[in-house]
Amino acid sequence: MIEILELQGGASPRGRFDQAAKVLEAGGLIVLPDRRFALSAAETRMLDPSISDDRAKNISLDPATGRVSGTRLDDAGRHVLAGLIGRFAQTADALLAELTPRYAPALQRRRTSFRPGAIADRALSLRKDDRRLHVDAFPANPVQGRRILRVFANVNPEGEPRVWNVGEDPFDAVARRFLGRLVVKEHAATVKEALGLTKGRQSAYDQAMLRLHDAAKLDHGYQADAPRRRLELPADSLWVVYTDSVMHAALSGQHALEQTYLMPVEAMAEEALSPLRILERMTGRALA
Ligand SMILES: [Fe+2]
Repeated sequence: MIEILELQGGASPRGRFDQAAKVLEAGGLIVLPDRRFALSAAETRMLDPSISDDRAKNISLDPATGRVSGTRLDDAGRHVLAGLIGRFAQTADALLAELTPRYAPALQRRRTSFRPGAIADRALSLRKDDRRLHVDAFPANPVQGRRILRVFANVNPEGEPRVWNVGEDPFDAVARRFLGRLVVKEHAATVKEALGLTKGRQSAYDQAMLRLHDAAKLDHGYQADAPRRRLELPADSLWVVYTDSVMHAALSGQHALEQTYLMPVEAMAEEALSPLRILERMTGRALA
């Protein structure tokens, strides 16, 4: 049974926040239903799907370069977007410093994204369709065993919730179900790196997780039968989840922000619960 820890209000009792890492590591979600990420008037004008460039799913800010990509807007518009997305990145940093202070020194902040479009608007291949249950895995950016921790905000101005399904099965049950389809080919990783298709070496772990992502999305039986829980994440809420271990599907909603972090498994309270260590135990070999 997946645990959803709801933390109301700005200043919650210390003891509850200490639970946050445990809940996250066990495959739960932390939801802050009234922790509003407020937008200025100029930023509110960015809640318009037509500002996207139609090539990218998201508008994103690269923390390494400070560059905003995925928008057709001119420099003035990009400046507003960079302010909005950058401020969300800081909000996410502050939230995790409060919720999971032991993670803070180990968290590696990656791309911050803004999603002005509605989920249900997109017609996609099964593999790209995030309305199907999946765990996150990055084809071009190998994580080499690190966790993917994400902070989301629903900034819908009409009070519309973001609706997700989350899988009820723990990661080890999911991994066991798909284990036969997670075979890795070391040679393929070397070729991809040499061709510049991946930024850094794709570890056996990265390959296994990409296969798990695809296997789950392409398995009609799994999509139909997997035990799941429907969540309505309200407008003006924030939530935090390890999207590499929790099966999730984004069903509907519009106007979200998302901050991705990578974190070495050694920083977890219980490293044995990481997908890396679970897959290593199941396959009997080092994967990263
Ligand atoms: Fe996802």
